[in-house]
Amino acid sequence: FRTLDTVDVAGKRVLLRADLNVPVRDGKITDLTRIERLSPTIRELADKGAKVVVCSHFDRPKGKRVPEMSLAPMAAALGEVLGRRVRFVEDCTGTAAEQAVDLLAPGDILVLENTRFHAGEEKNDPAFSAGLAKLADIFVNDAFSAAHRAHASTEGVAHLLPSYAGRLMQAELEALESALGSPVRPVAAIVGGAKVSTKLELLGNLVAKVNVLVIGGAMANTFLAAQGKDVGKSLQEADMHATARDILAKAEAVGCSIVLPIDAVVAAEFKANPPTETVSVDAVPGNMMILDVGPASVAALIRQLPSLKTLVWNGPLGAFETPPFDAATVALAQAVAEATRKGDLRSVAGGGDTVSALRHAGVIDQLSYVSSAGGAFLEWLEGKTLPGVAVLED
Ligand code: 3PG
Repeated sequence: FRTLDTVDVAGKRVLLRADLNVPVRDGKITDLTRIERLSPTIRELADKGAKVVVCSHFDRPKGKRVPEMSLAPMAAALGEVLGRRVRFVEDCTGTAAEQAVDLLAPGDILVLENTRFHAGEEKNDPAFSAGLAKLADIFVNDAFSAAHRAHASTEGVAHLLPSYAGRLMQAELEALESALGSPVRPVAAIVGGAKVSTKLELLGNLVAKVNVLVIGGAMANTFLAAQGKDVGKSLQEADMHATARDILAKAEAVGCSIVLPIDAVVAAEFKANPPTETVSVDAVPGNMMILDVGPASVAALIRQLPSLKTLVWNGPLGAFETPPFDAATVALAQAVAEATRKGDLRSVAGGGDTVSALRHAGVIDQLSYVSSAGGAFLEWLEGKTLPGVAVLED
């Protein structure tokens, strides 16, 4: 892909696809991470004299104008993060948008209204893409986290304008390439989360690429049960046992070592701070459920870190949002941060829950790279082609 190093943007109108799909509660933005990580690209473009026209989706308005899903608050937040004036226009194509772009001077920044207010966005309608393309001379995509969508503003418009990766897109792609594309070995992956069924493709792809695959979260229960262990009342997917055994067999065939928990923290009920016990995975009481990986398992993982060169992490080890079932995830996150700080380990993490868990553990800034993407990070780990990335590579 071509980066911003290969284009002269001075005086040009640049359509920048951002991901301003930020978390909002009661009309207030609760996390500015995506806006902060986008700001270097905007600053660079503006400082180089581009007329910066920012477009993005927000939420899922399904082709209708939904006032609560306006990007106006994100434009204001962007202005505050940048410390610069950021203009806003109440449409993303058509006369109003065109006139607002015409008024821009080099260095000015304009945010367009939510692209998903138009049905053409998600349909990747060529006419809507053409409406976006009309606003600019070049297209820069900085929305890796939306690159798994083949929409007009992520894919369609890139066919109509000279297209480049923004700095955040570039950083995401370089980090993922170093983690799984051509990693320094040995490379391990930690995969957690509730269900094997939602991460099947991920597990299948990772088994073929990594030396060690650590499985945690409730999906580990399914694997333990598939091995014939009694997991009591634990969350697990009985219809996935055969699939889990297939994954174990495939791993063995290709020399990928799968690490499952050897002990677990169990409780009779899933709630905050109930009475808990730590047991071997061979001795889970029938009336109890596994809610976190146990300390012996975590200690074994931590002991393995110095032998690794690369680590990819997606999904928490336990029910980390409910104390004390955050203990394993927090302990491992802190150990990964320390191994990374020492300079021996390249650590890359991503996915919505994983990012919350790393923030909760206080190490969000201490890994080599934390992706700003959720679904797109997962699809990349699954080995899928992301349409928004592929079109930049053409
Ligand atoms: C995300 O937040 O993962 C992206 O912005 C994509 O949003 P979507 O799932 O609504 O397409």
